[in-house]
Formats: sequence, structure tokens, C-alpha cells
Amino acid sequence: MIKQIKEAADYILNLGVKLPEIGVILGTGLGNGFIQHVKDPVIVDYKDIPHFPDSTVEFHKGKLVYGEIGGRKILAMQGRYHYYEGYSMQQITLPVRVMKALGVKNLLISNAAGNMNLKWKKGELMLIDDHINLQPDNPLRGENYHELGPRFPDMSQPYSKILNEKLVSIARQKDIKLNVGVYACVSGPNLETRAEYRYLQRIGADVVGMSTVPEVIVANHAGLPCCAISVLTDDCDPDNLQPANIEEIIAVAGKAENSLTDLYIGLIKSL
Ligand code: HPA
Repeated sequence: MIKQIKEAADYILNLGVKLPEIGVILGTGLGNGFIQHVKDPVIVDYKDIPHFPDSTVEFHKGKLVYGEIGGRKILAMQGRYHYYEGYSMQQITLPVRVMKALGVKNLLISNAAGNMNLKWKKGELMLIDDHINLQPDNPLRGENYHELGPRFPDMSQPYSKILNEKLVSIARQKDIKLNVGVYACVSGPNLETRAEYRYLQRIGADVVGMSTVPEVIVANHAGLPCCAISVLTDDCDPDNLQPANIEEIIAVAGKAENSLTDLYIGLIKSL
């Protein structure tokens, strides 16, 4: 694992990626808008980076983009790895460990999620304040490498209070509706049944998705402050459930992308 992180980081360093300060992970249907703001981008295909698996999901780009936004050096993942694609938890979180090794100081994450909170609507955004991990595996299972982090990382505040407070205030300034709540992480790839949505609501989740939490666990292990915003792409009311339409989910993510980009660019400039 240590060797893999080093080999991937060395490869990226040799392409001229020097001291990125802020890492960004762009989720399903998101990214094009954000990437347009990157000045003088250096673009690397995941498939060329040692130990980065080939991304299998066609609407995920699978590119690492390095450059400047508002004078800050950022390293963005356009597309991420998901557990449902068949990779191990260690594989899907390798990019976070590589970002940390390259010197990233803050990690900004986004995802598409199903909305179960009846007060909110699809197309809105939710700042993740906390999560419930329902995936059947954990990226920290197995031998712990002390140089990467502790055996039993604390999770009392998995999403940085500082970053979250900044985002709430930026959203207020920009008049963007930013809900705050709990993200439940499932393995997928199937969407949930009505009984599962009801269960997820009862255990305290507002939204559900298939990503982010493994990355957040590894970021916490590494002492890397992170934040995450969900784009609510579909309404998942168990008493009025419509069949899921993946094309529509992606289209809704695309429409909400401007507000998400605005928030993250505001945050980057404030760091
Ligand atoms: N479940 C339901 N709806 C969704 C999901 C999910 O995991 N992701 C995006 N919309």
C-alpha cells in the first residue's frame, strides 16, 4: 500500500503537479462546470497513473485535473471509483491517500444522492453534516500503517466544522439554498426499495448514495480535513415512489452543478 501510494504520487509529481493545496472529488453528472474554471490545467487519465484502476462507469470521466482556481492550486478528480464497480475499498480510496501524499490540505467532495427528506426537493443541495455507513466493508480493514494514520480513527466530527461553517456562510451570501443533513452510504448498484427508504429515514438519514463515505473515512484517518455536498437528484418518498431514471438523475445533477461550483469556488478562494 505505501509503495503504491508513493509510485502513484511520484508519477503525478513528474507531470509537473507541484504542491496542490486543495483536493476536489467530483461526483456523478458533476464536474464539467467546475473544471472549466481551472486555469492552465494539467490533465492526467486515471488509466495512466500506476495502481489507479480503469474506471468502468461510462459517465464518469476518469481524469485528474491540476491547475489554479482563484490563485489556489487544486487537484480535482473528475469521476471517482465506486465500490459497486467491483474494486476493493483500498482501491477506491487510493486517490485520497495519494492526494494527502502530494500535500493536499483540504478535501472538497461532491456526489449525487437520493432525497428522503420530504421538506426538500430534487435539484437542491445538502451539506453533509454527518453520515451513516451501511457499506459491507471498510477501507481501513486490515493491517494499519501508522505512517498513514491511527488504528482507531475518531469520527466524532468527520466533516470539518471550519469548512462547513464557511460553506453555510458562502451559501447565505450567494443566496443558494443549502440544506444540512445526514448521508447514508449503501453499496448499490441497485437503488433502494420502498421498505429500505422507510428504514433509512427511520435510522436518521436525509439522503442516500453509493459513494463519499469510504473517501471521508480515509481522509479522517489521514488527518485531512474534508467537506461534502450532495446534489439531491431524485425524490425517494417511500409512500410515493416513482421508478428511478438514471438519465434524469444525471440531468438533475447537471442542472444543480452551477450552484455547487459557485459554493466550492467561493470556499477555495476563502481558504
Ligand atoms: N439511491 C437512490 N437515489 C439515488 C442514489 C441512491 O444511491 N444516488 C443518486 N440518487
